[in-house]
Amino acid sequence: MILITGGAGYLGSHACVALDSAGYQTLVFDDLSNSTVESVDNISLLCKNNKPVFIEGDIRSAKLVATIFKDYPISAVMHFAGLKSVANSQTDQAQYYSVNVGGSINLLQAMVSAGVTRLVFSSSATVYGHQANPPYTEDHPLNPVNTYGHTKLAVERILNDLHSGVYPWSIGILRYFNPVGAHPSGLLGDNPVGPPNNLFPHITECIASSSKSINVFGGDYETPDGTGIRDYIHVLDLIEAHMLTMNYLITNPGEQLTINLGTGRGISVLQVIEMFSKVSGKDIPYQILDRRTGDIDASWASADLAFKKLNWRASHSLEDMCRDSWTSQQKKLGK
Ligand code: NAD
Ligand code: UFG
Repeated sequence: MILITGGAGYLGSHACVALDSAGYQTLVFDDLSNSTVESVDNISLLCKNNKPVFIEGDIRSAKLVATIFKDYPISAVMHFAGLKSVANSQTDQAQYYSVNVGGSINLLQAMVSAGVTRLVFSSSATVYGHQANPPYTEDHPLNPVNTYGHTKLAVERILNDLHSGVYPWSIGILRYFNPVGAHPSGLLGDNPVGPPNNLFPHITECIASSSKSINVFGGDYETPDGTGIRDYIHVLDLIEAHMLTMNYLITNPGEQLTINLGTGRGISVLQVIEMFSKVSGKDIPYQILDRRTGDIDASWASADLAFKKLNWRASHSLEDMCRDSWTSQQKKLGK
């Protein structure tokens, strides 16, 4: 059985469905602070083999997390639970450390006590900070510039230490670039509680409301069209890489992998808006605003190590990403 912390959230819910397709029984552990029970219901609808067991709770609860390992035959963990807003991390630092670092330590202690040492961890490209020249390879210096990034790097360091210790840990640290898109059924997606901070959910919400125009943060970056460039990766590609990482750790016990998950190409905000216009068949008004504090010009991955270690490359196009995000938004609105 695979424990998926944060399994009701955007990425964890897709992992659940993929693990079920691969024949695994899953246990979703989530406090629903940024997701809903409907998400758990939708995961169950999409799981063809075994519905996930769902336990609601806080990853920082030592007693509850330890009980899970006692009550269920967990063989590995995919650890998605965490807080992910860069902006909020700059005003709520203690909470970000508490959940992202404290919660991870609590999980790791429970794993040690239960003798479970196979883990896939959700890290982030944010650990690189402001690098001069993308693409970022995994050996770039790590220099996060916000609290969110510091918490991810802190957990990476804890995992490095564990791996060099006495227990035979098998660890995958996956540094996501910009996960977007949704399950093609439209039943799962990026459905944050509260207003979205990220570009894709902001655009789909604006198109759906048809009265709002897109806020484009910055038109004067040193990029071909002046808007920020990111490496958007379809959630299905991202989760496929998690499955391959899990298999890698099973066939290479005691190994540690730290790899980027991105497509290896950068896309500008205006290119994203243009593609959404194509897939939705609507004109999308936008306004260029000041740069958002903390944003960088351009970020994209070197995806070579993932190919070398996992024989994996992202295959979904920007059109797939925008179409599936739009379908998921329409489903949410009952269209
Ligand atoms: P999400 O918010 O949709 O999912 C995270 C889930 O964790 C939510 O369901 C939330 O309710 C749960 N959670 C939060 N605090 C918890 C706690 N204390 N105890 C138990 N559950 C808790 O986010 P996501 O996009 O699915 O991201 C998953 C992971 O990937 C996070 O760790 C995030 O930092 C990381 N990540 C995400 C992105 C991205 O752009 N989506 C990029 C890089 C890294
Ligand atoms: N943007 C807008 N308008 C918006 C939102 C974003 O123009 O309403 C722009 C940003 O300025 C940036 C690009 O769209 O140029 C992407 O911004 P996102 O907020 O979607 O994503 P970020 O690259 O800022 O950050 C995301 C996640 C982080 C993660 C990081 C790297 O939010 O959690 O990718 O993985 F760490």
